[in-house]
Amino acid sequence: MKINIHLVFIVLFMFNGFSIANYKHKKPLPVIIDVDGDFDDFLAILYALKSKEELDVRGITYQGDGWSNAASAQNIVDIADDIYPGKNLPVILGADYSLYESDKNPSTLGTPGCTYQKAAPEGAGGKRDQDLLMGLNRQLRLSKRIWYDVMKGFNITKDFADLIDSTINQTGKNPTIILTGPATNIVTLLRAYPIYSEKIDKVFWMGGALNVSGNLFSIPNNTRAEFNVFFDCVAARELLDFNLDITLIPLDFTSKIPLNSAFFDKLSKLKSFYGRFVCKFLSLVRATWFGGDATFFARYYLWDPTAIAVVKNIGVAKIVSNRSLNVTCDGNLNHDGQFVRSNVLTKSNFKVATDPIVSNPIENSPFFQDFLKVIDYD
Ligand SMILES: *[C@@H]1O[C@H](CO)[C@@H](O)[C@H](O)[C@H]1NC(C)=O
Ligand SMILES: *[C@@H]1O[C@H](CO)[C@@H](O)[C@H](O)[C@H]1NC(C)=O
Ligand SMILES: *[C@@H]1O[C@H](CO)[C@@H](O)[C@H](O)[C@H]1NC(C)=O
Ligand SMILES: *[C@@H]1O[C@H](CO)[C@@H](O)[C@H](O)[C@H]1NC(C)=O
Ligand SMILES: *[C@@H]1O[C@H](CO)[C@@H](O)[C@H](O)[C@H]1NC(C)=O
Ligand SMILES: *[C@@H]1O[C@H](CO)[C@@H](O)[C@H](O)[C@H]1NC(C)=O
Repeated sequence: MKINIHLVFIVLFMFNGFSIANYKHKKPLPVIIDVDGDFDDFLAILYALKSKEELDVRGITYQGDGWSNAASAQNIVDIADDIYPGKNLPVILGADYSLYESDKNPSTLGTPGCTYQKAAPEGAGGKRDQDLLMGLNRQLRLSKRIWYDVMKGFNITKDFADLIDSTINQTGKNPTIILTGPATNIVTLLRAYPIYSEKIDKVFWMGGALNVSGNLFSIPNNTRAEFNVFFDCVAARELLDFNLDITLIPLDFTSKIPLNSAFFDKLSKLKSFYGRFVCKFLSLVRATWFGGDATFFARYYLWDPTAIAVVKNIGVAKIVSNRSLNVTCDGNLNHDGQFVRSNVLTKSNFKVATDPIVSNPIENSPFFQDFLKVIDYD
């Protein structure tokens, strides 16, 4: 009798101890982030790199067919080497043109290719500001690595495949891929090696507009498209039909977490290097916005960081399945890059983040709280 009770005790204790240990040492999720270098892509990478408890960033793949030019990948190298010192995080240059262009001009890899890309202004308010982070990029803690050393070769098919393989090799898990730009890189990989869809755990993609208006301010006739889908609608359409588990974080979702001046008050109180950097940076974006605060708060969102919060699974999102979707893509700028209802189901297991969990007042929402806390870790 006595012995038995003793045994039960030991078993219970072990079970308890084990589960607590398990919880504390839950391994962070291995992720690869695929970006196009806009302001909010940069903030998303910063937020992801600093979310060390939940995310293990294995590498960044970059594309120059979105909101910035390839050389601004240096900004990513600078923060990666500061936050993960000594790790030499792979920062890999991918597509410079959308598949729409490179399918038409394969021998020149897409060039001259500006059909969709010309929707991104080159100068102020466009690529120049993104590349230079509003002129603040030299105030980062600069790395000794320079981007053209890091990006050996320019073969996204091989480099993306190698990054996925080495992630599986080193972590024992299939990576999750987070897309915060057009889908060109991942579709380039999967066109060549469809089998890699089996080596990808999940895909999260910030992009698209379903029940709300799009954001193509430079193509006002196209009211329903969002830039990441529009810039490479060929890739977007094909992505839906790979054997993948995809969660879309559309404008429907991100627009329900608006910035306001109370958020900026909280941001201005952060003391760490990155807390102060992000405050200076977002304050400049706000101060130079066409139309002042009224349009800034109505048009500017932390789109890509929101997607990182969804991946972190910190209780910020309601997600529903929607496989009745297709993307318009006929070479008509006024109509391309829109998600439309389709009678044919997507081959991918396609889901959509519909409603974020928000608080009243909005600046106390779980996403804002986590974002501010995490970027302020020193
Ligand atoms: C890129 O790498 C893939 C896979 O190794 C190879 O099949 C392809 O020929 C390479 N492309 C170029 C342009 O070198
Ligand atoms: C996996 O790891 C082993 C041992 O470290 C190494 O020999 C092999 O080349 C690695 N394979 C890949 C695809 O990274
Ligand atoms: C799926 O998306 C389409 C296009 O936005 C929409 O018409 C439809 O209502 C959505 N279905 C569900 C179940 O969300
Ligand atoms: C936009 O739509 C209007 C009205 O249909 C048309 O007159 C105009 O040419 C269109 N603009 C472009 C750039 O296609
Ligand atoms: C999407 O639409 C295009 C053009 O209508 C069509 O060729 C393609 O088969 C559609 N894809 C799906 C999955 O319905
Ligand atoms: C769009 O509207 C449909 C129908 O009301 C709804 O089922 C769906 O969840 C909505 N999608 C988003 C992304 O809000």
